[in-house]
Amino acid sequence: MKIFNFGSLNIDHVYRVPHLVKPGETLGSHDYQMFVGGKGLNQSIALARAGADVCHVGCIGKDGDVLRQVLEENGVNTSFIEQVDGPSGHAIIEVDSKGENSILLYGGANMKNNADSISQVFEHISEGEFVLMQNEINGIPQIIEQGNKVKCQIVFNPAPMSTEVMNYPLQKVDCFILNQSEAEAMSGYNEPNEMLRQLQKQFPHSKIVLTLGSRGAIYKDAKQQISIDAVLTEALDTTGAGDTFIGYFLAGMCQKESIHRALKIASKAASHCIQKAGAADSIPFRNELIPIHE
Ligand code: RIB
Repeated sequence: MKIFNFGSLNIDHVYRVPHLVKPGETLGSHDYQMFVGGKGLNQSIALARAGADVCHVGCIGKDGDVLRQVLEENGVNTSFIEQVDGPSGHAIIEVDSKGENSILLYGGANMKNNADSISQVFEHISEGEFVLMQNEINGIPQIIEQGNKVKCQIVFNPAPMSTEVMNYPLQKVDCFILNQSEAEAMSGYNEPNEMLRQLQKQFPHSKIVLTLGSRGAIYKDAKQQISIDAVLTEALDTTGAGDTFIGYFLAGMCQKESIHRALKIASKAASHCIQKAGAADSIPFRNELIPIHE
């Protein structure tokens, strides 16, 4: 089962800081590193390292060869990555002493997906295949509409959340994967069970996966609700943990794992990710996660 990930590709500039910078404050950092990232690219790498067949669709700037190259090294199909004028997307990321982060994004090439190119990709997507998106690119309403037309399984990770999201044709999304703050913004509630109940009411035909960091994750659809605990480990850098979870969970779905097992594997993968610096660089390979107990 193939996954087409319409996703961002970023160059991440990562600064280690004693605390996240406050408004009006000038703060010195004690380390700086550059990594490849972007929620889209990270999720493609997580999918590939989990053993899924993934094709990344997106745009890079003239400075973006490294982004394509890293995807290729990880076995991701890059034939639908276009090089456009202007810079690639980038992120300025602060990571504090507890491994928490704050991220400032510049969309760059990620906002230059063109309608004709998107349509051409859909000529290669068949019924039942997966289409994945995050909210770091332009063209999302068109991708949802076309995905619905070819009857593929549409998975949306509304990250980062924005006011436009609620205007997207969300009734056509088959599966939402979202964290606490995204679920709060979409449901208007802040307690996990209430959020899930409300989201199920708003999207009765969709599956919902709510990730709760150190409190685990919950899956809900019209028939069942499944919760798992997080695998607790000390965090060096939480950047990319959510992306790792999503890639591994979706790979589990494609590989016909049970939902419970897919959640457990995803959670273990995310716990590995937070023990290393960077986003894509810290995503584990499937064989590092064995054994997984249900
Ligand atoms: O989820 C982490 C990612 O968010 C980073 O790699 C950064 O590029 C932003 O897209």
